[in-house]
Amino acid sequence: MRLVLLGAPGSGKGTQAALLRDELKVPHISTGDLLRAAVKAGTPLGLQARAVMESGRLVSDDIVLGMLEERLAKADIGDGFILDGYPRNLAQCEALEGLLERLDQPLDVALKLEVPAELLVERIAGRAAAEGRRDDTPATVRERLRVYEEQTAPVAGHYEELGKLVIVDGVGEVEDVFRRINAALDAAGSAARLRA
Ligand code: AP5
Repeated sequence: MRLVLLGAPGSGKGTQAALLRDELKVPHISTGDLLRAAVKAGTPLGLQARAVMESGRLVSDDIVLGMLEERLAKADIGDGFILDGYPRNLAQCEALEGLLERLDQPLDVALKLEVPAELLVERIAGRAAAEGRRDDTPATVRERLRVYEEQTAPVAGHYEELGKLVIVDGVGEVEDVFRRINAALDAAGSAARLRA
């Protein structure tokens, strides 16, 4: 299963990706986690990315693609992957398609979690109190949501045109959302087999 998880900040991509990783036995690749690791390690790339992340804007396409290429070159993606946080704009969609074509690993499904804005803000506020992620401050969250609407929301339309988009209601208990995701992936798999 080669899967992209889409959804606004706080929609539950990371939470559900961790469950899917255990269920599907494929790696969870989060560009946010890769960037945070680079920031923590103090690499030149991390130093560049840090201020951008704390402002709520997107890190440059070139930097993120370079990191992703390096990660997808590892042998553990042979049975698939769950990509979380990429692509985040239409240029990244195009870059991903080129990269996956070169790797002969075409994408199966783009799954979007839908959650109303007020709940996103509430969830991120909860995490801010518990974990202190530096981009979870109210001003940065507002900017992340604005950037999402402006640049990332159109990505779902791109996958819809390709017939690969699956939309799942992300409201409710984590386990209920996970059950909905599994049902949606089963249905998408059956539809793909019928088309083949
Ligand atoms: P990234 O790390 O990707 O953050 P994000 O997309 O803003 O997503 P979040 O991690 O906030 O939310 P999530 O949807 O994963 O939800 P989660 O499961 O954590 O990106 C951070 C930054 O890195 C970007 O702003 C950008 O600067 C940069 N970046 C990353 N990728 C990039 C790219 N491709 N290009 C350019 N720049 C890039 O859940 C959130 C909270 O809600 C948690 O506390 C969780 O416990 C809780 N929760 C989850 N599900 C539920 C539920 N069902 N009910 C109640 N609470 C729940």
